[in-house]
Amino acid sequence: MGKRNKVTVVGAGNVGASAALWLASKELGDVVLVDVIEGVPQGKALDLAQAAPIESYDVRLVGANSYDETKNSDVVIITAGLPRKPGMSRDDLLRTNAEIVTKVVDEIVLHSPNSILIIVSNPLDAMCQVALRRSGFPKNRVIGMAGVLDSARMRCFLAEALDVSVENVTAFVLGGHGDTMVPLPRYSTCAGIPVTELLPKEKLDQIVKRTAGGGAEIVSLLKTGSAYYAPSSASVEMTEAILKDKKKILPCAAYLEGEYGINGLYVGVPCKLGARGLEQIIEINLTTEERIALQKSAAAVQELVNVLGV
Ligand SMILES: NC(=O)c1ccc[n+]([C@@H]2O[C@H](COP(=O)([O-])OP(=O)(O)OC[C@H]3O[C@@H](n4cnc5c(N)ncnc54)[C@H](O)[C@@H]3O)[C@@H](O)[C@H]2O)c1
Repeated sequence: MGKRNKVTVVGAGNVGASAALWLASKELGDVVLVDVIEGVPQGKALDLAQAAPIESYDVRLVGANSYDETKNSDVVIITAGLPRKPGMSRDDLLRTNAEIVTKVVDEIVLHSPNSILIIVSNPLDAMCQVALRRSGFPKNRVIGMAGVLDSARMRCFLAEALDVSVENVTAFVLGGHGDTMVPLPRYSTCAGIPVTELLPKEKLDQIVKRTAGGGAEIVSLLKTGSAYYAPSSASVEMTEAILKDKKKILPCAAYLEGEYGINGLYVGVPCKLGARGLEQIIEINLTTEERIALQKSAAAVQELVNVLGV
C-alpha cells in the first residue's frame, strides 16, 4: 500500500481553512494547517477532523504554529499574508506579504525540500517570483493560483448568461492576476461552441469586465476581507491535478522564459499539471490585440517585481 499524500496549507485564515476543507473532503491526503496565530490552526484542524465521521473522509488533520508536522509534504499551498481591505489594491500588499512569503518559504525548504509549492498570497505573480527566488526550487515546482479562479469566475458568468450548466462552459483567462488580466472569449466555449457565436459582443464585454473585477466585487460586498471559497477550491483543483498526475491543463501563473515573448517573469498562461508540477507551458496563438493586452499585463507584474528587486 502506498503512503498517504501530505499537503501543508500555510495560513489558516479564510482561504487556508477552506482549502483544508476541500482537501479533506476530496480525501487528497493528510492535511497540516500552519499559522502564526496561536490556537487558530489547531482549532480549525480539530473542528475539521470532527466533521470527518459525518462526511466520511479518512485523513489526518493537524494544526500547528511551527513546521515540524509539515515535514516531507508533497504539496504546500501558501496562503499566508494579509488580505485586501476595501479600497486597497493588491499591490498595496506587496511588501508586507513579500516578507511573510519569504519567511514561510525558508521553513518549507528546510522541512519539505522536494515539495511542490502552490502560491496563493497576493499580489500573486510577484509572490510567485519571491517564492521561486527564495526557495531555489526549479520553476516546475513553484506555481501560482490565479487563472483557475479567474476562469471559474468567467465560467460562472457565462453559464448564467447562457442559462446552461457550468459544466458545459470552459473559459480562458491569461495574464497577471490583477486589473490587467486578459479574459479570452475567443477561446471560451459552451459544449464546444465558441461563446463568441452564442452571445452578443456587448454581453461578452460585460462578462470580461466583471471577470477582471471579480475579486474587487467580492471585497466590496464582504467589506472585511476578500473571496475565499472559490480561491481555495481553485488551489485544491491544482493540488489534485498534481497528486493524481492528471496532466490537466489549467491556467496558472508560471515562470516564463521566452514563452509568449516574455522572459524571466511569472504570468498566467495555460499549463499542464502533473506529478512533476508544471510539466508544460502551452502556447496558443494570440491576435495582435490579445498579445498587446498580455504584454501590458506582464508589464504590470514587472513593475512590482522591480519594486521588490527579485
Ligand atoms: N491568488 C488569488 O487568486 C487569491 C484569491 C484570494 C485571496 N488571495 C490572497 O490569499 C491571502 C490569504 O487570504 P485570506 O482571505 O485567507 O486572508 P486571512 O487574513 O483570512 O488569512 C491569512 C492568514 O495568514 C496568516 N499569516 C500571516 N503571516 C503568517 C506567517 N508568517 N506564517 C503563517 N501564517 C501567516 C494570518 O495569521 C492569517 O490567519 C491574501 O494575501 C489574499 O490576498 C489570493
